[in-house]
Amino acid sequence: LENGLARTPPMGWMSWTIFWCQIDCIKYPGKCINERMYKDMADRLVEDGYKDFGYNRVHIDDCWMEMKRDKTGTLIADRDRFPSGIQALSRYMHAKGILLGIYEDYGNKTCGGYPGSQYYLEKDANTFAEWEVDYLKLDGCYAEEDDMAIGYPAMSDFLKKTGRDIVYSCSWPAYLEDEPEKVDYNVIGKYCNLWRNYGDISAKWSSIQKIIDYYTENQDKLIPAAGPGRWHDPDMIVVGQNTVTPDQSRTQMSLWSIWSAPLIMSNDLRVIKPVYKKILQNSLVIAVDQDPLGIMGRMIFNNSDFAVYLKPITPVDTDKNLYSYAVVFFNRNTDRSSVVSIMYGQLGLNNPLGYFVQDLWENQYLGLKRSVDVYVATIPPTGVKMIKATLAHKFFIDTPT
Ligand code: DGJ
Repeated sequence: LENGLARTPPMGWMSWTIFWCQIDCIKYPGKCINERMYKDMADRLVEDGYKDFGYNRVHIDDCWMEMKRDKTGTLIADRDRFPSGIQALSRYMHAKGILLGIYEDYGNKTCGGYPGSQYYLEKDANTFAEWEVDYLKLDGCYAEEDDMAIGYPAMSDFLKKTGRDIVYSCSWPAYLEDEPEKVDYNVIGKYCNLWRNYGDISAKWSSIQKIIDYYTENQDKLIPAAGPGRWHDPDMIVVGQNTVTPDQSRTQMSLWSIWSAPLIMSNDLRVIKPVYKKILQNSLVIAVDQDPLGIMGRMIFNNSDFAVYLKPITPVDTDKNLYSYAVVFFNRNTDRSSVVSIMYGQLGLNNPLGYFVQDLWENQYLGLKRSVDVYVATIPPTGVKMIKATLAHKFFIDTPT
């Protein structure tokens, strides 16, 4: 969507894949959907440095509302769990330089059974703007699939009419997963800044693997649709939940960055282990995700030992049409390490002057490499190696250290 927003993939924190629809704040204090919890996460983003790495959004997900609209038809936040209301919450965030995202559903109920936006699209768009909300995730439960091609664009227009900058995330294609012929990313990309296209993630390797498979199998359809202002959303980053290993966490961060995916964490930032925090705060990998070209990378090679994913990034030599690249070597085996031994030329890295190559997880400079040089590495099970190959060019004089 060309509304000037989300020129790079959004980054932040979202509640769903960690606190779900937990509304019992007596039994689960601190782990339920209420204003205190969202404020805590904003505090952690700022005080623990995440914001400095680009994570500057907190997203409310389902189950924040009262079960009924008020007499005028306006949505209201749950009075016990959000006693100060959403506007106070967005002011709290804004004072810290954090943007607030909210959740609604295009159908007549949210997936959790709260009031949906059906028949209230314009009213809800205005309410969110009044509350100074900066992002809307519009889900698609309890809706007619055939109505979506009208409803999702309509909400896009209503958001625009409010005059407020509101990033618009659509779940539209995710609800058409079984009817891929109905998914036209040219249309969706005209109305939405990002969109979910596949099932929900959970903090398990099998779930991450399924999403990787879906994105890889469908890459020819997905890649041309992505770019600044229009992103595919493979769902939340579950790094920081202890059911995902550090190797698997690096895999998720690496591939999501290859795809220029949103980096929206769902974890408990108050109790996160240092190993995960370090993975989430790897500025070299984040820079690949946030590369200004916004090109979605692709799998270029696959055998039973490993797959290779490649993403063109800056700096670029436009005269010669030469790119720099981020490369991920992914070992999908769960039971054995893989050894990679491959010439840079086999990856398509054929610049005669070569590339300055850097290992992004080890933060190690590997040297100036030309097409006949060989990259050798051992990849742990369900893990990755990730390198950046910066185009060597007579004008790119600063060698990475
Ligand atoms: C389905 C969405 O895909 C999830 O991300 C989450 O928002 C739930 N609905 C909430 O009910």
